[in-house]
Amino acid sequence: MQMIKEQFEENGYAIIENFVSDDEIATLMGRTSFLVEQFDPSEVKSVFHSFFEEGKKASDQYILTSGDKIRFFLEAKALDENGDLKFSKHKSICKIGHALHDLDPVFSKFSRSSKFKDLAHEIGFESPLIAQSMYFFKHPKVSGEIQLHQDASFIYTEPSTVVGFWVALEDAYTENSCLWVLPKGHKLGLKSRFVRSDEGEKFEVFDTDEYPQEDFVPLEVKKGSLVLLHGHLPHYSSANLSEKSRHAYTLHLIDGNAHYPANNWLQRSENFPFQGF
Ligand code: FE2
Repeated sequence: MQMIKEQFEENGYAIIENFVSDDEIATLMGRTSFLVEQFDPSEVKSVFHSFFEEGKKASDQYILTSGDKIRFFLEAKALDENGDLKFSKHKSICKIGHALHDLDPVFSKFSRSSKFKDLAHEIGFESPLIAQSMYFFKHPKVSGEIQLHQDASFIYTEPSTVVGFWVALEDAYTENSCLWVLPKGHKLGLKSRFVRSDEGEKFEVFDTDEYPQEDFVPLEVKKGSLVLLHGHLPHYSSANLSEKSRHAYTLHLIDGNAHYPANNWLQRSENFPFQGF
């Protein structure tokens, strides 16, 4: 495990194969099907990708109040010009977020398994808290890109502590839209921060230098693999133009000893704060 920590610190990411069993994956995917079955898409027409685009529905209350809820975000391509679904709801959801790990008993049990807790401590957390969870579907043909970003732009702490635990629930290859990362890119610092403000949500930009696009590499991993992602590591995923989905479940951890600003987009109600393991 020491080697994983060294790889993570040096490259900004590390891959641990066979971290999650086939049984665990089947349980999570089965539970997700159930949750989607319960979901009524007429309740919401919130498109996840708009969140990254300033000025385009960035102040979507459905997203901004989702930090302590289980909510469903749709793919832009799944909606017609009237905002109605073009496909079945099962094919139209981009992701579920952001408190599956607290509110759903199946996801809570999985997210708080000792292997995640032990790993958190092994990579240096003193007081790990699970800030958010997301289930990504990456439906074939329908799913759009997740734009290039650093997780610490959205889950900002002082000092920076956020780490992503990205679990492949299906094989992830270049063709079905695996993650792309810039190795060692976490050493280049944080480029921007997404904040709430009186004028609406916006990015505070610290550095406008472009990343070298040619140095990004695809992280092709087998299902059951865990990818550790440093909060400053630049990463993205493309639209999935293949015939295969690419489900993944992610947790974002922060350290409870760090300061968590009130103008971060992700907030919890006072009586339901971030919790640890
Ligand atoms: Fe991310």
